[in-house]
Amino acid sequence: YLSAMGLETWAVRSRPGVPVAVPVATGPAPAIPADAANAAAAPTSKQREAAYDWAQLKERVAACTRCGLAATRTQTVFGVGNLHAEWLVVGEAPGAEEDRVGEPFVGRAGQLLNSMLRSIGLARDDVYIANVLKCRPPHNRDPLASETNECLPFLDQQIALLKPKIMLSVGRIAAHNLLRTDVSLGRLRQKVHTFGAARVPLVVTYHPAYLLRTPAEKRKAWEDLKFAREVFARG
Ligand code: URA
Repeated sequence: YLSAMGLETWAVRSRPGVPVAVPVATGPAPAIPADAANAAAAPTSKQREAAYDWAQLKERVAACTRCGLAATRTQTVFGVGNLHAEWLVVGEAPGAEEDRVGEPFVGRAGQLLNSMLRSIGLARDDVYIANVLKCRPPHNRDPLASETNECLPFLDQQIALLKPKIMLSVGRIAAHNLLRTDVSLGRLRQKVHTFGAARVPLVVTYHPAYLLRTPAEKRKAWEDLKFAREVFARG
């Protein structure tokens, strides 16, 4: 494939821990025969991630520079919890506290999330918690599509490794990215959605940060949590 592309001479350039092959000389690029072009199709980032176990995936995330958030983060926020959990909670992106500590949902919204989980009999350690984005967007702005596109394969592989029995998506951004929709959160809640080829049941509720700003909606979130518990119990 490389010769078909006219990339003949290579040298290995070392970055810490990552050998990178760079072209030293390139000739004119001849037309690529169909077979070579097919063989050459670069793996999608999803395919790349699909080979990783937990430790490798965590390393990949920590080293990620696929989007501009790498330049502004303090550290990546991979995910936390029980690797054998039946429940997966998915949020939006790290905030300031999470960026500082390196763990999802450790700020005020995290305290409320813990209470929400406790209200249906789950301890934080019983579940796995991850975000759509592994890096904090500056000033907690909404994630850009380019950022979620680069980052979602990490979450996909976390889900593939965890094999949760149920997913609880908190907030609009997580729901929209997991369900590939832009339907309002109010219309997505109180329904059983499914995620991926494994059709993992997925229930949507409000983001705890939103509930902190709008406590009157806590009642609806409580309905959603009970609904999720029922869906889980039904198997
Ligand atoms: N909000 C999120 O969506 N995720 C976090 O980890 C923290 C706040």
